[in-house]
Amino acid sequence: MVTTESRVDLDKLASLCKRRGFIFQSSEIYGGLASTWDYGPLGVELKNNVKNSWWRTFVWSRDDIVGLDASILMHPDVWRASGHVGNFTDPLVECRQCHQRFREDHLEGPSCPNCGGDLTEARQFNLMFKTFIGSVEDQAAEAYLRPETAQGIFVNFENVLNATRKRLPFGIAQIGKAFRNEITTGNFIFRTREFEAMEIEYFVMPGEDEEAHDKWIEDCVGWYTGLGVNPDRIRVRNHDADELSHYSKATCDLEYLYPWGWGEIQGVANRTDYDLKAHSEASGQNLTYFDQDSGQRIVPYVIEPAAGVDRSVMTFLVDAYTEEEVSTPSGKTETRVLLKLHPELAPVKVAILPLSRNERLAPTARKVFQTVRTSGRIPGFVQYDDTQSIGRRYRRQDEIGTPLCVTVDFDTIDDDAVTIRYRDTMEQVRVPISELVERLSQDLVA
Ligand code: GAP
Repeated sequence: MVTTESRVDLDKLASLCKRRGFIFQSSEIYGGLASTWDYGPLGVELKNNVKNSWWRTFVWSRDDIVGLDASILMHPDVWRASGHVGNFTDPLVECRQCHQRFREDHLEGPSCPNCGGDLTEARQFNLMFKTFIGSVEDQAAEAYLRPETAQGIFVNFENVLNATRKRLPFGIAQIGKAFRNEITTGNFIFRTREFEAMEIEYFVMPGEDEEAHDKWIEDCVGWYTGLGVNPDRIRVRNHDADELSHYSKATCDLEYLYPWGWGEIQGVANRTDYDLKAHSEASGQNLTYFDQDSGQRIVPYVIEPAAGVDRSVMTFLVDAYTEEEVSTPSGKTETRVLLKLHPELAPVKVAILPLSRNERLAPTARKVFQTVRTSGRIPGFVQYDDTQSIGRRYRRQDEIGTPLCVTVDFDTIDDDAVTIRYRDTMEQVRVPISELVERLSQDLVA
């Protein structure tokens, strides 16, 4: 069944993210800079976990993909050859009355959504950020902040091929910052001017591109659902011909049902041989592949799964955000807020909580913390938390998505056992300290 309504209030989520240290507005003490965001102590853990999971899935778990980390600044001819100088544009309209600017293709009616005023004719607005290299601000020194990481891969095609001796089909993966001077931004971290991309250029024999395209769509959907995203909230949408990027033969968007409706999580495009041919022509270098079977040099086709790190973070957060009515020990009902993040993504994997700050408990609790943290069996951050009441600490750990809490109580001193509490079910089990690490590491992958 496809769910048609989304239950998460974006303001509530943004407020949780700020309160708990996931995401802050950039330059907040100066009034903020529109649509730029900083990742706090938990946000950086979550973001790194997303990137690591993607890399583990698409690079380490396969033998047909290798990595790359190209620079953000590239020769300006790269962007002329790739078509971005000429074509990487969105239609911009301006209100003649309030002078606000909008993307024409995002408007619902013919008038200004802000004041109802008349709009100008659309003009094509290039999204690349321009800068100058060196001390002279003239045209010869012009450069661009990359609007996609893909071109760093295409211009290194020959280098990677020579260094790795890969045979088709093979891919090159890259994670890195990209910049776009978007006309309209918004919806928290969904559309920003600076973001991080996770891209693969997967090179295939011409003629094998369509089958590879279908397989990549399936694999990408599988990555999100494997990390717990509700499959009813994901759909695949084919681009209409008039939506296709200048390089694309066919593009599918993976879309998620966000609080404001369906929106793109990531694209999977068939870029054909467009980029390698364009760079061969512009650079005069031979960017071809020698096919040993046919004895011919060919220009491979390219399938490109392109995801945003920030947009993936947003998707995982929205999907994980849950409010539940629970009964308190005093018989009242209260709302429990929790992030049902997959353990692989959770910023804190295990929290060690002494029942109280009583000095009799601290040495034992600290010892348990030390044992778990240094065991090498917990893949991530282990936190020690002894502030406030145990109830409030459980609530805090639920809100930040910690899958497992370990409570050290007064019985622990005598029976050398602790209680594991599970985030999603609130179930509690008593476990001997000697078996704790084994049990936690099993629970984190279960
Ligand atoms: N190289 C292909 C490419 O860049 P894209 O569909 O323009 O394709 C890929 O971008 C992904 O990058 C998007 O699906 C989205 O997840 C993310 N993305 C693009 N623009 C973004 C923005 N302004 N803010 C945040 N994420 C963005």
